[in-house]
Amino acid sequence: MRIRYGIIGVGGHGRNRHLLPLTKLRDKVEIIAVADINKERCEEVAYQFKIKCYTDYMDMIEKESLDAVSIVTPTGLHSKIAMDVLNKKVNVLVDKPLGSNLDEVLNVVRTAKHKGLKLMVGYWSRFSSALQFGKEIVDKDLLGEPYMAYGYLVRRRGIPGIPTFIDKRLSGGRGALLDIGCYIIDNLLTLLKFRKPISVIGKTYTKFGNKKDEIKFNWGNWDIENFSLEDYATGFVKLEKDISMILEVGWAANVSHAEERSYIRVLGDKGGIEGNGNEAILDISFHGRTDNFLVDMKPVIKKKEDMSYEMVKSFVESVLENKEPPITGYESVILHSIIDGIYKSSEEDREIRIVIPEI
Ligand SMILES: NC(=O)c1ccc[n+]([C@@H]2O[C@H](COP(=O)([O-])OP(=O)(O)OC[C@H]3O[C@@H](n4cnc5c(N)ncnc54)[C@H](O)[C@@H]3O)[C@@H](O)[C@H]2O)c1
Repeated sequence: MRIRYGIIGVGGHGRNRHLLPLTKLRDKVEIIAVADINKERCEEVAYQFKIKCYTDYMDMIEKESLDAVSIVTPTGLHSKIAMDVLNKKVNVLVDKPLGSNLDEVLNVVRTAKHKGLKLMVGYWSRFSSALQFGKEIVDKDLLGEPYMAYGYLVRRRGIPGIPTFIDKRLSGGRGALLDIGCYIIDNLLTLLKFRKPISVIGKTYTKFGNKKDEIKFNWGNWDIENFSLEDYATGFVKLEKDISMILEVGWAANVSHAEERSYIRVLGDKGGIEGNGNEAILDISFHGRTDNFLVDMKPVIKKKEDMSYEMVKSFVESVLENKEPPITGYESVILHSIIDGIYKSSEEDREIRIVIPEI
């Protein structure tokens, strides 16, 4: 049996990281149509992939009896479109982040649960072998009790100066912390088994996006008068079981590395994990000891990994086999509690207590 599939939003990510990998799953998926408000782009993609084009996603949902869709529009539209789709009884794979804020995320997660539909969040970075190795270390209790997690994801100059990421309505009114901070938090929480946060203190900064002479160093072009999003953020999070988490995220910063770079470290009382990469962790190591020696361990990882393919495949299988997707909406409730907490702490200049809502 094959499921009937549609893609909403076929810009860079929708085309390359959803539609293209879905074409490799022809035995499981019949790709029916794409929907995009950009008519020219929609028609071009539809022609290339020999599928239908709709400029209104609701038209596609009403006419095509789809089993599932990917939502790959700008972030500020994710939750509204997800709600519309779920209310028509269609399963959804929503690209990261699931919404602009916790309230939006809760609405989507509760609706999917109430309707008994599959909801998966598109963190392709979860399918990195390096991160999977880290998970195995944790599952086999080689880390022991974790007590400290540090996450860094910073670009030297990478403000994405196109409306999708910096127009307030499209970006969800938030900048680097929401756009790429969600990756580093997701990577750390994956290794911490999504332990609940208790309190957050944080600060956001706008240091580059509001300066005209910075535009040439970054990506795209924008009106500095209308730029009010943060391009840097820091956070200190206390999690259950005495775990500290420190975060540093930036679209732009005066650092030495030219390319986007991430670094994670999780310390436990038996061992520690360190990882590097970009939005995904690509290289990882474990540090522990035997009776008489300190030991370092590294997995052998294939050079080329198709994480987007693994992401769409696992979603499709969860729909076909009626099983829980590997990246759940509830995990996003925890993740967005932290993100909202950092914004609130920065605005109100105080520590924010966090209580995870019931779903
Ligand atoms: N670019 C990346 O590397 C990347 C990586 C990971 C995740 N993402 C996520 O994917 C999403 C899209 O990013 P992108 O880089 O593809 O942006 P993009 O601007 O290239 O594409 C967005 C597409 O959505 C379409 N769209 C806008 N409103 C719509 C609507 N109401 N109905 C249907 N289509 C609509 C636009 O016309 C456009 O084609 C974002 O949420 C982003 O966070 C992007």
